[in-house]
Amino acid sequence: NKNIVVAIDGYSSCGKSTLAKALAKQLHFIYVDSGAMYRAVTLYFLRNHIDLQNEDQVKKALDEIDLNFHAKDYNTHILLNGEDVSEEIRQMHISENVSAISAIKQVRTAMVKQQQKMGRSKNIVMDGRDIGTTVFPHAQVKLFMTADPKIRAERRYKELIAKGENVTLEEIFENLAHRDYLDTTREESPLTRAEDAIILDNTKLTEEDQLNFALDRVTPFL
Ligand code: C5P
Repeated sequence: NKNIVVAIDGYSSCGKSTLAKALAKQLHFIYVDSGAMYRAVTLYFLRNHIDLQNEDQVKKALDEIDLNFHAKDYNTHILLNGEDVSEEIRQMHISENVSAISAIKQVRTAMVKQQQKMGRSKNIVMDGRDIGTTVFPHAQVKLFMTADPKIRAERRYKELIAKGENVTLEEIFENLAHRDYLDTTREESPLTRAEDAIILDNTKLTEEDQLNFALDRVTPFL
């Protein structure tokens, strides 16, 4: 009766968090959005004008950051030193800086440590870029999600427009491509499919199809 870990990795805006949330809700597992943690760190670094080249500044900033999740109905709310920053971290200026900041070794070490602690004793679904490779290499279930880049950009565009953000489809497309490039080519735990991860291309799948696919993989471990 070891706790069950479901690791969901993949490119930007592939629907990882939508699936992860639905799966966690269905199974009564804890959901953790690891990307939200990197985004909250990015917000803190930008607000405090941290020089990314300066190791001491980076270390000090990481020591000052306290991250917490408040799960309200599986819509993760993330608290940065007590402040709910869930909305702010979705803004374009965060998306434009997050991949550079999450490539910093000290940043990754600090986040991975915290993530591993969260998955030590509870059933959990975590989504991100390095969950199946680095954070939980022994996860019982690993999914690697992909989707057509144009579809991904369109989905994200609709989401941001609905929130009233002033963005263009081209801008989103470029941002996704740029983040995927940085995330897959960085030195420290780059985005890559774990050997034992199952590929889930959701270009043509409904949310229900994806949930059923994932449930089929998890059920044997329940
Ligand atoms: O998942 P989301 O798109 O919100 O993640 C934002 C960024 O955070 C990614 O583009 C990536 O640079 C970084 N990230 C990461 N490792 C994770 C999750 C996110 O490097 N496990």
